[in-house]
Amino acid sequence: MPTSKIAGIGLYVPENTVTNEDLKKYMDTSDEWIQERTGIRERRYAHRTDETTTTMAVEASKIAIERAGITAQDIDFIVFATLSPDYYFPGCGVLVQRAMQMKEIGALDIRNQCSGFVYALSVADQFIKTGMYKNILVIGSEKHSFGLDFSTRGRNISVIFGDGAGAVVLQATEKEGQGIMSTHLHSDGQSAELLAMYNPGTHANHWVKEPVADYTEAAIGEMFMSKEMMDKAQNFPFMDGQAVFKKAIIKFPEVIIEALTKNGLSTTDINLLIPHQANLRISQFVQQKLALRNDQVFNNIQQFGNTTAASIPIALCQAWQEGKVKEGDLICLAAFGSGFTWASALIRW
Ligand code: ACO
Repeated sequence: MPTSKIAGIGLYVPENTVTNEDLKKYMDTSDEWIQERTGIRERRYAHRTDETTTTMAVEASKIAIERAGITAQDIDFIVFATLSPDYYFPGCGVLVQRAMQMKEIGALDIRNQCSGFVYALSVADQFIKTGMYKNILVIGSEKHSFGLDFSTRGRNISVIFGDGAGAVVLQATEKEGQGIMSTHLHSDGQSAELLAMYNPGTHANHWVKEPVADYTEAAIGEMFMSKEMMDKAQNFPFMDGQAVFKKAIIKFPEVIIEALTKNGLSTTDINLLIPHQANLRISQFVQQKLALRNDQVFNNIQQFGNTTAASIPIALCQAWQEGKVKEGDLICLAAFGSGFTWASALIRW
């Protein structure tokens, strides 16, 4: 049975660097507060009109495909993870297929927010293990800057997020002991509303005072995006940061241990842990809990902020480019985020 290896990896971040100091133009915040609570110094914001979630994904994908030594024509399937798609529908996968002039291959979008890339990798891994596909393009890309509340009201969320994209070519290999060893996926919808963007969504008539009785243009507009929703900032992401933090520091270590146990390994076997870059304090807590050395954990949230589905492939690519990921290394990917969903993957590079 084939296993899947990462044959090529690429990242793309926009040129525009936004420092904590820059954010003070829009909201009451400080570099000190942001660095102390999150570790973030700066993040990148995509060009307002010329860059989208898909265009960034295409740039990262071109690099990944070239590094894999193949062409876009060799890709058999696309799995695209994002919470900030170009359109409400269709998804970004088909836009990549079009932009890269690929064959009429399947394209699937994954909506699992911060865990999106690990979920996407797991889905792609199953297709390769069954022999259905040989080269799958797996992407995580986000353009958060387009939909954040930059007033003081939204400061607990908006300071965290950044834009960017990462992509890998997952390829079938028969080489013994190489590639994805296992993936582990979880969810608990009990707290779905604690980290969410409620609108636009079909639940919307929960938010209007009177149940909508007709389907006139005005009534539909009221259900979809009313002034009341806008006034309550329900068109922006909502996050109960402390609740997320408390759950994250339990589930991150748990899902990492689950992956190690499944493969008869322990924390000392990990060469590099790439945690989803949610908050540097979360990564440090996980590192401490698992008694990992500094050289066993890779963080770049200081430079790029939290790029949700893109954070793991961006960090993995940067670590690889810096020579921190070598053949034979045991790499652990782990994520936690909205849903709540959490996931891990163990890879023998
Ligand atoms: N600048 C200055 N002050 C701020 C800011 C800001 N940017 N944001 C909030 N504050 C203030 C608050 O108003 C509050 O003031 P008060 O005490 O006068 O009321 C105070 O700081 C503390 O606010 P909290 O929200 O309680 O701050 P906390 O210490 O919890 O830190 C944070 C907030 C950084 C968001 C933290 O809770 C966190 O990182 N949580 C996890 C985030 C995460 O991992 N999300 C998952 C990924 S996202 C995804 O899946 C889509």
